[in-house]
Amino acid sequence: MTTPLLDVRDLTVTINRDGHLITALDKVSFSVNPGEVLGIVGESGAGKSITGAAIIDLLVPPLKRTGGTITLAGERLDRLSPKAMRSVRGGRIGFIFQDPMTSLNPVISIGRQLCDTIEAHLKIGGEKTKRKALEWIERVGLPNPEVQFRRYPHQLSGGMRQRIVIALALCANPALVIADEPTTALDVSVQAHILQLMRDLHRESRASMMLITHDLGVIAKMADRVAVLYAGRVAEISTVGELFNAPKHPYTRGLIRATPMPSADGEVRLDQIPGAMPGLGAVPPGCAFNPRCFKAEGDCRAAIPPLTTEESAAFSCFHPLERETA
Ligand SMILES: Nc1ncnc2c1ncn2[C@@H]1O[C@H](COP(=O)(O)OP(=O)(O)OP(=O)(O)O)[C@@H](O)[C@H]1O
Ligand SMILES: [Mg+2]
Repeated sequence: MTTPLLDVRDLTVTINRDGHLITALDKVSFSVNPGEVLGIVGESGAGKSITGAAIIDLLVPPLKRTGGTITLAGERLDRLSPKAMRSVRGGRIGFIFQDPMTSLNPVISIGRQLCDTIEAHLKIGGEKTKRKALEWIERVGLPNPEVQFRRYPHQLSGGMRQRIVIALALCANPALVIADEPTTALDVSVQAHILQLMRDLHRESRASMMLITHDLGVIAKMADRVAVLYAGRVAEISTVGELFNAPKHPYTRGLIRATPMPSADGEVRLDQIPGAMPGLGAVPPGCAFNPRCFKAEGDCRAAIPPLTTEESAAFSCFHPLERETA
């Protein structure tokens, strides 16, 4: 058995709303193996971003981590001081967010930002740092690195900015990269290029990646395994192949069928799941998906199904789907 690089157990995040504690993440568990890309999918509001932010300790009130453990290469991150955690961020864990401007400082040149990250985490200085920064500008595909080095974020296009964010996330040789909707804010034509870049750099660096997206198409292209979140809980974790071919959780199948992707016969099928995901504080008793589920029975309304683990897969359902035989 592989020892995971990142292991998240029973991660719980609550929101304090005028003194009432509302559960936003309810005992979320998953792991990321060395060199693997784990996709995190789910509808808007499922808790994907909160999961990423909780791991790197970037939750801000009213959000608070109230339970669970986060272990990176055997070390408990959830026990680190804020100062120690700051050095993990940008060092052993790189991150890429949807809006490049949240990761870039508008008043510092991109060369200086790269040098600062390299110096802080790799403990090298002087000419070596600058050379490394220039190397990274080139690796992420920007022309004339010396010119780019002196430019400021506002002088770059959105796609170029995201390339620099990717360089910043990777330049300290992280063990793990957390990317939260890295292409969602970009033009469609730029999205494919950025995904390709991420795939190439992932292959070269062998850093593990947690790729958060609502887009199953991105998952199909990039991920090895996938965790499906629903209303702050894990519905299913599986390899990409199993997930698309033989989903176990009815929600997973619903999500796949609601995605415009041509099936084997070339037909584009689109079936929306009836109803909507419950909002915060409105999660029904039992399985959170039960009001929308065609397989729901009494037990689904009575108790939360435990996460049943099988090899590298897991699902939380009392009545999992059978493998369909065509
Ligand atoms: N700062 C906050 N204060 C209150 N509620 C919040 C806060 N941040 C997130 N939430 C709520 O927590 C839930 C999960 O949010 P999260 O941002 O993790 O969703 P998501 O899966 O990333 O969705 P999206 O696909 O839209 O990015 C949502 O209901 C959201 O409204
Ligand atoms: Mg999000």
